[in-house]
Amino acid sequence: MKATMKYICALGLFLAVLGISCMNGANGAGECGRSSPDMEAMKLIPCAQAAQDENASVSSSCCAQVKKLGQNPKCLCAVMLSNIAKSSGVKPEVAVTIPKRCNLADRPVGYKCGAYTLP
Ligand SMILES: *[C@@H]1O[C@H](CO)[C@@H](O)[C@H](O)[C@H]1NC(C)=O
Repeated sequence: MKATMKYICALGLFLAVLGISCMNGANGAGECGRSSPDMEAMKLIPCAQAAQDENASVSSSCCAQVKKLGQNPKCLCAVMLSNIAKSSGVKPEVAVTIPKRCNLADRPVGYKCGAYTLP
């Protein structure tokens, strides 16, 4: 019974996140096209550690996601500076260093992410 409640709560939370993303999407194409920065932020969960600690090693799964997102720097920045990232303890000044720490050759060097510049 308890487990069922937990499942229903998790499902409800998921639907709420989905609903918020749909509302954002309804405003037309955002920084991430049809997806929203909040939804894209979910893909960067493997980067959570690396985005908080400048000395943490960046996992290969994180780098793979950053590489994909980096093809749209506007979206990458929106994700790094998103409220969801902030509320998960991401430091924007640390997050912008992740593409460099991944050694991504084709990263958008010098791209302005709000107040930050991609190294
Ligand atoms: C990262 O390492 C540098 C140099 O060793 C140190 O000064 C800095 O405090 C460290 N940062 C964190 C978040 O641990």
